Formats: sequence, structure tokens, C-alpha cells
Amino acid sequence: MSVLHVTSHSEAETLALAEKLARSFLPGDVLILVGELGSGKTAFVRGLARGLGIDGSLVNSPSYTFVNEYPGGDRKLYHFDLYRMNDTNELYEIGWDEYLSREGIMAVEWGEKAAELLPQKYYLMEFRIVNETDRDIDISLVQV
Ligand SMILES: Nc1ncnc2c1ncn2[C@@H]1O[C@H](COP(=O)(O)OP(=O)(O)OP(=O)(O)O)[C@@H](O)[C@H]1O
Ligand SMILES: [Mg+2]
Repeated sequence: MSVLHVTSHSEAETLALAEKLARSFLPGDVLILVGELGSGKTAFVRGLARGLGIDGSLVNSPSYTFVNEYPGGDRKLYHFDLYRMNDTNELYEIGWDEYLSREGIMAVEWGEKAAELLPQKYYLMEFRIVNETDRDIDISLVQV
């Protein structure tokens, strides 16, 4: 089910969009962010953080630990980046299942790499580079 399809014309626009949407997500929601390098996934998560009352400058890709938790904010945000994950076993080691049961919003960059470990319901966010400044963002709700 497609929820939203937009073209963002700048990083600032992507941040603002995510900031605006942030409070429509509820504790326990899982956001799977998919798209090539530099397509705006981290920018989107930074905007989400701002919308939840978290300092956006704290948001950076958790490339080596796979997950970042940020202080502050009125809803917890768990920021994953699975780009460097070689095997889904590595997710068990960081407590993936436990995160799924926590009362926070999970935003997972390169989340398609965890395909067999995704919950029954999640938001799929697809980012596509159109040109230097434009990004197509497609958000849909996946329910199996
Ligand atoms: N409309 C736009 N929205 C978001 N970022 C944009 C936009 N236009 C240009 N950019 C640039 O694209 C880059 C997006 O970087 P970002 O780290 O968010 O990508 P990413 O998808 O997280 O990449 P990675 O897969 O490496 O984690 C930034 O350098 C940003 O300035
Ligand atoms: Mg990123």
C-alpha cells in the first residue's frame, strides 16, 4: 500500500519532510530505508530525529556497530545501518529481536539486507537519486 510519493529537491527538504512525518510514527514502528549510496537515507533519519526532539547533529550512520541510540527526544529512535553487515547472524549478536519488541521507532538503513528478519508490518521507504539535488522518496506500508 503506497502511503506517500514525493520528490525532494534538496537535503533541507528531505530533512523537513522527515521532521514533519516523525510524529505520525508510533512506538514499535519499523522503517526500512532502501536506496543507493547518497540517496538521502541518513538525511531522512536526521529529520526524523529532529521531529522527535532529538538533536539532529547526533545522527550519523552507525556503520560499525550497526545501531545508534540517541539521548533526548520524547520517543526513542533506534538507528540501524546494515550496509557493512555480511551475515544476518550478526544481527542476533546485537539483539535485533529485542529491538523489534522495544517501544521505540526503528529506522534501518539498508534494511533489505535483513529481509528474512523483518516484522510482519513495516514501512518501506525507497530513495532514488534523480539528479544532484532531487531524490524520489516512496513510502509504502508492507503487511504480510
Ligand atoms: N534532495 C536531497 N535529499 C537528501 N540528500 C540530498 C538531496 N540532494 C542532495 N543530497 C545530498 O545527498 C547526500 C545524501 O547523503 P545521505 O548520507 O543522507 O545518504 P544515504 O542514503 O544515507 O547514503 P549511505 O547509503 O551511504 O548511508 C548528501 O550529501 C546530501 O547533501
Ligand atoms: Mg546513510
